[in-house]
Amino acid sequence: MDTLEQQFDVRYRYRVHLTEDALAPENDLLARTLAADRAARPRVLVAVDRGVLAAQADLAARVESYARTHALDLVDAPLVLPGGETGKNEPRHLERVLAAIERGGICRHSYVVGIGGGALLDLVGFAAAQAHRGVRMVRLPTTVLAQCDAAVGVKTGINAFGKKNFLGSFAPPWAVINDLRFLDSLSVRDWRAGIAEAVKVALVKDAAFFERLERDAERLLHRDRGAMRALIAHAARLHLEHIARGGDPFETGSARPLDFGHWAAHKLEQLSDYRLRHGEAVAIGIALDATYSRLAGWLADDAHERILALLERFGFELDVPELGEGGLLAGLDEFREHLGGELTITLLGAIGRGFEVHAMDEERVRASIDRVRARPGSGSGQPAARPCASGAER
Ligand SMILES: NC(=O)c1ccc[n+]([C@@H]2O[C@H](COP(=O)([O-])OP(=O)(O)OC[C@H]3O[C@@H](n4cnc5c(N)ncnc54)[C@H](O)[C@@H]3O)[C@@H](O)[C@H]2O)c1
Ligand SMILES: [Zn+2]
Repeated sequence: MDTLEQQFDVRYRYRVHLTEDALAPENDLLARTLAADRAARPRVLVAVDRGVLAAQADLAARVESYARTHALDLVDAPLVLPGGETGKNEPRHLERVLAAIERGGICRHSYVVGIGGGALLDLVGFAAAQAHRGVRMVRLPTTVLAQCDAAVGVKTGINAFGKKNFLGSFAPPWAVINDLRFLDSLSVRDWRAGIAEAVKVALVKDAAFFERLERDAERLLHRDRGAMRALIAHAARLHLEHIARGGDPFETGSARPLDFGHWAAHKLEQLSDYRLRHGEAVAIGIALDATYSRLAGWLADDAHERILALLERFGFELDVPELGEGGLLAGLDEFREHLGGELTITLLGAIGRGFEVHAMDEERVRASIDRVRARPGSGSGQPAARPCASGAER
């Protein structure tokens, strides 16, 4: 039998920009991003998150006026999609994006621009990855979580069969434009939720960043733009570095260090019927796996206390009913199945130092749940601190 061997590398390159007011007529960053082929008028389909539109009523008009100023060929009025998990849970929204791409004649040299939270970008990105086997996608993330984590990476996806991100693809974006102005209308909840992903990446990779988050906690709670800008810039950088230099950008192995705390988080989101935001569930997952690391003797007591205290300072509710209902442990096997191969969970040896294990002791997981639930302030159902905010609580 003859055997031919095939091997090639594909190089990806994309930029993650941090700007203010990307849709202001004088800000030409987005226009330059869409002018890569120097086509006279780049064809563009814009998809927007209904939650952003509700909070920033002039958004569609700003998009249309920007397109006129910069000679972009908007193939249609912006496509409005539900924000949050609804868009990822109901397959008809994926069809709607695909139909809009088809109707608009978007080709592989045209662009889909997504404006919204991590969920909207996952949905639109997945559609863009499928149409014509992949059309260019520019992401304009509008939440803290998406700007520092979800939008800067290479993954897209929607939920199916009751499982998070069951359908999806690895599809690097054409570019990411983080616009701090979008964050102005975020609810207190979503401002806070994204901070959990920054705490996560600090814990597994960067002790100095964790210390900075401790120092900046008050400013972040008071919605200080400078502190948030620094958080987003650094967390995004750590995510990008991991993808580029971690040796496994498309996650073919079983390890996924940036998913620290996520085995529990994904299951809690599902068990709560998506009442919990991803970031809120991640905060609980971090608390559980830090506590597990403490109970196993890998993480020092004072480090464990600092981690839980910081999460509490940010106002995360660490005790939720789903923790007491059983069912969480099934998240371990679902996580293993999602990653493939052997169970691989990241735990903490110290603040800033994650390491991997391939088995979790169920009794110790239960003890971790009990320890987290028993913390003063976590059982009240009330966040430990109430951040001041300019955005309304929704
Ligand atoms: N692809 C990845 O690598 C990756 C990584 C992390 C998380 N995620 C996914 O991201 C999702 C979570 O994203 P998220 O935390 O950004 O929340 P989200 O997308 O669920 O949005 C939360 C809510 O905020 C609203 N919203 C968004 N921007 C707003 C703004 N500027 N003003 C007012 N309201 C606004 C939305 O309409 C929604 O109601 C989850 O589905 C998670 O699985 C993906
Ligand atoms: Zn996450």
